[in-house]
Formats: sequence, structure tokens, C-alpha cells
Amino acid sequence: MDFRRRKLLQVGAAISSYFALPTLSLANTRKSNKEGWIYELTAEEATAEIVDGFQTDVLGFDGQIPAPTLRCRQGEPVTIIFTNKLKEPTTIHWHGLRIPIEMDGVPFLSQPPIMPGETFVYRFTPPDAGTFWYHPHVNSVVQLGKGLVGAIIVEEAEPVLFEEEHTLLLKHWHLDQQGQWKQLMIPRYSARMGTPGEWGTVNGEHEPVYSLRENATTRLRIANVDNTLTYPIAIKGAEAWVVAIDGNPIKTPYPLEQHKISPGMRLDLALHAPKQGEKVYVQYMKGRFPFPLCTFESVASEISSPASLPALPLNPVPDLDLKNASEMDFVFEWEGAISPTKKDGKVDSKFWLMNKRAWEGMNKNSIPAPLATLELGKTYIFDLKNVTQYHHPIHLHGHTFTVLELDGIKLDEPFHTDTVLLGKNGSAKAAFVADNPGKWMYHCHVIEHMKTGLMGYIEVV
Ligand code: C2O
Ligand code: CU
Ligand code: CU
Repeated sequence: MDFRRRKLLQVGAAISSYFALPTLSLANTRKSNKEGWIYELTAEEATAEIVDGFQTDVLGFDGQIPAPTLRCRQGEPVTIIFTNKLKEPTTIHWHGLRIPIEMDGVPFLSQPPIMPGETFVYRFTPPDAGTFWYHPHVNSVVQLGKGLVGAIIVEEAEPVLFEEEHTLLLKHWHLDQQGQWKQLMIPRYSARMGTPGEWGTVNGEHEPVYSLRENATTRLRIANVDNTLTYPIAIKGAEAWVVAIDGNPIKTPYPLEQHKISPGMRLDLALHAPKQGEKVYVQYMKGRFPFPLCTFESVASEISSPASLPALPLNPVPDLDLKNASEMDFVFEWEGAISPTKKDGKVDSKFWLMNKRAWEGMNKNSIPAPLATLELGKTYIFDLKNVTQYHHPIHLHGHTFTVLELDGIKLDEPFHTDTVLLGKNGSAKAAFVADNPGKWMYHCHVIEHMKTGLMGYIEVV
């Protein structure tokens, strides 16, 4: 199978194929050449039928489950006019996008929280193409857990065309069989792997079935938008190639056997749709038996033979200066139950430490000290060490890591990511150029872990 970069022949055809994508609805969009991509977006309470035949109270972007997929293009400005129609403050964070701190959507570090009824305009130009996602950075257990999670897709500056493209948002909802909410966070689980939801969905639907056109070159953009679960993913019924990890294309695509997608992480796959009538399964390899997440069925098409799979250009992640790099240790630890009671009588459990500190939370009058202060323009190697029995997807805002080493093994082909998965007692060496000034969140993306201590920030000055 050969990968080659396909030149765009017809701009008209390219645009229409983007808008012919059937998987997710497009937000209310007005595109103008001068101003770029413009979206209006709200966060609001809504109801959705997630469990067949039952209505669930959810929080939805534009009141929708799944949230509208925002599309824009690498190097072109995008504007999102966001209105908070919730009953509580919120923000939107653009996970994986290397954009200025003012647009990063973290309350107090990058902007004041957006109060109920307020509108905030996010405006940025994404430097990288790929599969990214967006979510609030306020009351995350509830706001993400109840549905405020969506995809933002940054198309390549020079469009790379697949004949089929599907975005798959993976999430297990904390719902019972009647679509009623169960606890989003149970402390004895927060101190372990986190509280899993029970109702598995792709794009808010349980085991959906999609169609593919026979022989079509197909791109699957898979994003784990779940609060807790790691999905080891496999594909049955077609040979799937890994083409991008966490939004970033890899140099040498390889056939997928299994890939662990932890909360916050993404995986882009390329494959050929099989013959008419045949099926492709996306499987969750939990334990010994695979669970189906969704199915694709091939239908008749005009594509008589499979074209070669297009290759993705690499993202312009800054070159590392490893000779002059500084190395920093970050140790992730479990500290058992320290459960101070807050003034309002609520228990504020802390179970996890990052370099001996548990995140204490912040407000406009008190912002804790950074975990580290980095010099603008310098290369850093983060030595990540997980000394716990549970895995942690460690995420850094505003920058892209280059993973040099995993579990003590030097990688032949380092890869780029915004979220490094540390297995139980695992380690990694992840390098990056601190080229984006600001205070950048740095946390585990298992939402309960970040809530119960595994969070902090680094400052780049
Ligand atoms: Cu998706 Cu602070 O993260
Ligand atoms: Cu992020
Ligand atoms: Cu964690």
C-alpha cells in the first residue's frame, strides 16, 4: 500500500466534499473570505435521547448531542462567538491547539470565567492541522460528563482528500438503562482509575451503524472525549493504517493492531472501504473480548478500484534543540485519602500528587505557584514518572510534546502529541520548545484525577 500526497486539482470539488460529510452536523456557520471561519456557539441545558426511548437532561453545545463539529483550516483565522446559556460559569478550551494564552479557555489563567448570559469571542489561527476537540475548563466532572464535548477539525492548509471521512467521539455516559444519571464521580474510584460510565456511545449513539462507499479511501478521526475510560482500539474487517496520533500526523504510517486512546487523546486512521455488503467494526478491546463501538457497512459506489491512501503533511512543530535542553522531573504519585472538609461542609478529596503537590484549585484572588517556570524559546525535556498503579494521560496546554522515550525505551521515530499516556508505573521523556508565553495547564486528563490533585501549570516567560 503506498501513501502519496495528493495534489488538489479542483478547489470546487474539495469544498463540496467537505460539506457532504454526513456524520455530524455543522454548526451555524457563515464563511467569508476576509474574516475566515466564523461560528456561533452556545452552551445550554437540553434533553437528548441517548438511551433508546428515554430522555436525559444533558448539557450541550448548541443544545446538541453530539456537539456541532467545528471545521476550519490551518493558517486561517477562526472566530467562535460563544454564549454561556448555562446556569453556571464556563469557558471553552481548544484541546491540542497551539494558540495564544488569551484564547486557551482556562478560567483565571487565561480569561475570567464566562458568566451565565455572557458572550465571549474566541479568535485564533490554528498553526497545526488535525483532529482536535473542545470542552469547558470549569466544573469539568459535570460539564464534560453531561455532554459539553465536541470536535474541532483543522483541515490541512493544502487540502488532503479522502473519499470518506468520519469523526467518532467516544464517550461512556454515567446513565442507567432508563437514561437517568448515576454518580459522575465516586471517591473510591477517583482514588483509582476513575468512575466509569456504563452506556457506551459513539457520537452520542449506542453502537451506531454508518455507511461507507465501496473502495473509498476513508479517514476515521477518533477522539476520546470521555471523562475516565481508556479505549484500546482495534479495527476488524479492513486493514487500517495509523496516520496521526493526537492530531499530529506521523512520519511513517503503520498498520493498526491496537492503540490505547485515553481521555483527551485522538487517533486518525486511514483505510479502504471493503466490498459492498462487507463491514468494518471499530472495537473496544476490553479484557479478552472485543466490544463493538460502531460499525461501517459498505454500499455500492462509483469508485471502481481503491485509490492510494493520501499522506498527511507533518505539522510545523518547532525543532528541538536537544543539545541545550534542560531536563525536568515530574513525578506522579498517589497519596491515599486526604480529605479536608471545606467551609461549606463539602469534602475536598485529594488523592494524587504532581511533584509532591496536589492542585488546590484557584480563584481570581489566589492563583497557586507554577510547577515550573520555563524560559521562552528554550527546549525542555520533561521526565515523566508515574509511580502509581493506574495509568495517567498527561496533557500540556499550548505546546506539542515530542515523545523521545517511553518506559525507558528510546523511540526510533519520536512522535508529537499534546497528551502522553503513562501506563501503570510507566515513564516517558517528552520534549518541547517553550515557544508560547503564558501560564499553561498541565494535568492528567482523567477528569477525576485532575479534580483530586493531578493538575498544575507551567509558566513560560
Ligand atoms: Cu483537554 Cu486542560 O484539557
Ligand atoms: Cu488542553
Ligand atoms: Cu490520572
